[in-house]
Amino acid sequence: MSEVVLELNEVAIYQKDNLVLSEVNLTINKGEFVYLIGKTGSGKSSFMKTLYGDLPLTKGEGKIVDYDLKTLKEKDIPYLRRKLGIVFQDFKLLPDRSINDNLLFVLKATGWKEKPKMTAKINEVLDKVGMKTKGFKFPHELSGGEQQRVAIARALLNDPELILADEPTGNLDPQTSVEVMKVLQEINKSGRTILMATHDYALLLKYPSKTLKCDGSKVFEVVQKSV
Ligand SMILES: Nc1ncnc2c1ncn2[C@@H]1O[C@H](COP(=O)(O)OP(=O)(O)O)[C@@H](O)[C@H]1O
Ligand SMILES: [Mg+2]
Repeated sequence: MSEVVLELNEVAIYQKDNLVLSEVNLTINKGEFVYLIGKTGSGKSSFMKTLYGDLPLTKGEGKIVDYDLKTLKEKDIPYLRRKLGIVFQDFKLLPDRSINDNLLFVLKATGWKEKPKMTAKINEVLDKVGMKTKGFKFPHELSGGEQQRVAIARALLNDPELILADEPTGNLDPQTSVEVMKVLQEINKSGRTILMATHDYALLLKYPSKTLKCDGSKVFEVVQKSV
């Protein structure tokens, strides 16, 4: 039987008093790679924010990993986020410290204590994204694609049950986008579940997968035409 990591029933998503998405129903099972597409302003980021507790779920039912989004308390949010790996368009690395120290900061903030275990984990995640030799560098010494690979490594630190990537290739040129996408594909093949918002249709064609579309304040699954 497949394991459900995300289930939404009749969810409505608001930004302030404005209805962004309504009647959202969907299930994501462990191991899936799912795209969330739709034009700018269609609600992709609002959707993601609801999943990581940045926007409250006030209407409908939502379960993500082990959390009920409807009854989620402020104090639960950091624990929910430890079970998620979140990747943003703009990387969000701390500019004042090396890559290793960026990752160390996250481990310490999430309760890790033993230095040898932390070092091993940092090496493991940097290796997964092909950045093992660059841990000593500062973010500004890396290209955009490299910074995003580090951000993906950071998302992997606490072995997330679901990775939410909001336009992870949005700031990258097409070739670099493909490199970042290859990393995400490999991570998915190793068993991780990924939900990725994008409006990069070239990537969708190159790496076809289950696709949800935000349009007209609804979310529905679209069937991709083969190329
Ligand atoms: N912080 C905010 N406050 C008020 N409205 C917002 C906010 N963020 C987004 N919106 C509105 O919500 C709608 C969906 O935006 P968003 O979820 O960012 O879409 P996308 O990520 O697909 O571009 C848009 O109409 C946008 O203007
Ligand atoms: Mg967005």
